[in-house]
Amino acid sequence: MEPAPPLSRFADRLRARPFEVDIALAALLGLALLVLFGSTASYGPADWLLTAGLLGPLAWRRRAPVPAAAVVVVTGLAELLLTDQFLAANVAAPAMVYALAAYAPRWAERAGLATGLLGAVLATVRYYGPYYRDDSGVWISTGIDPFQLAFVAGAIGVLVVASWAMGLVKRGRLQREAAMRERAVLLELERDQELRLAASTERARIAREMHDVVAHSLSVVIAQADGGRYAGRADPEAAVGALEQISATGRQALADMRSLLGVLREGDAQEFAPQPDVAAIGALVEDVRRSGLDVDLVQDGEPVDLPSGPQLAAYRIVQESLTNVLKHAGPASRAWVRLQWRPEALEVSVLDDGRGAAAMLAPDGDGQGVLGMRERAQLHGGRLAVGPRHGGGFGVHAVLPYGRRR
Ligand SMILES: Nc1ncnc2c1ncn2[C@@H]1O[C@H](COP(=O)(O)OP(=O)(O)OP(=O)(O)O)[C@@H](O)[C@H]1O
Ligand SMILES: [Mg+2]
Repeated sequence: MEPAPPLSRFADRLRARPFEVDIALAALLGLALLVLFGSTASYGPADWLLTAGLLGPLAWRRRAPVPAAAVVVVTGLAELLLTDQFLAANVAAPAMVYALAAYAPRWAERAGLATGLLGAVLATVRYYGPYYRDDSGVWISTGIDPFQLAFVAGAIGVLVVASWAMGLVKRGRLQREAAMRERAVLLELERDQELRLAASTERARIAREMHDVVAHSLSVVIAQADGGRYAGRADPEAAVGALEQISATGRQALADMRSLLGVLREGDAQEFAPQPDVAAIGALVEDVRRSGLDVDLVQDGEPVDLPSGPQLAAYRIVQESLTNVLKHAGPASRAWVRLQWRPEALEVSVLDDGRGAAAMLAPDGDGQGVLGMRERAQLHGGRLAVGPRHGGGFGVHAVLPYGRRR
């Protein structure tokens, strides 16, 4: 950044210390009056005291506008009694009206205008009125023209109203600035929250995908290895088949993991990484059947062209449910996968006739699977029911609404 010109640097420094600047301004004003009137006019000590009482509070006009205005009002009233001169320092009055309009609460802003106008009338009557007090304290009539009187009062009044209006303009600007600052802070907060939310949603998504891919393939691999181990002695051919299945499943899992890690590294690659869809459920069921579970796929209704999100959700729900059957249902159980294309939603059911409730009494996993399935269903406006079935076995039932179709 190139250095700011000296003048604007000076202005910045002044802006950083408004109170000191106000004190300096008030002092400068007093000094100017002293130079202008000090030598010529007949200012007595009372006049100088009143001048200080009027100008001093100006330094506090931003910090404490109401007390500062009160001091000016009291000094102004004292002035009416103590001196016969209309002091130049009375400029403090419109200045305070301005300050009240700009910086003070609403009631004080209005009171400031009223007091200013009242002061205009009082000062006119007192200093330009039809009577004045001579040195011996006797009031003497001057027989002044009432029109002239009204003119003087009106001129001071206009000055007061103009100051008040300028103060209001300033107040509006300050309020707009404050509103903008507040808005900026809010926007920043919102953005941070969105970022955090996006990050945590993304983390949850990745956790679900990792869990489903890894847990499913490992379960299949374990089932195959167990089967191959027993079959190996009697039927080496069957063992070779199991080993082939194991290597195929391992390769598939590796490919899935790669595409997932690609998403993590590149972010946008997500759009291009092919994700499994409803059509792939057939191959998945076939895959699981080869690993030894007796499982059937049934489809009802006319398939609907779903967006990729719900498609992936349906696939993963079937995948995790079958994995759970392999893990929890016990040996010699059967399973059914049913896809029902209803008018409004795709219903996915995975049922088995295994240990059901008995398995739930002694959960042996950490329960990420059901959690993930439920999140997936809810993410697409659907719902998920999981539990043992009446009459034995276990059931997973998901509803994925079509929503707005592509
Ligand atoms: N087909 C099923 N038969 C019997 N019990 C089941 C079946 N599916 C799930 N369960 C029970 O529901 C529990 C929760 O399943 P979930 O998939 O959430 O966890 P998990 O499979 O134990 O562990 P993870 O999926 O995190 O590896 C399981 O621990 C099990 O007790
Ligand atoms: Mg599970």
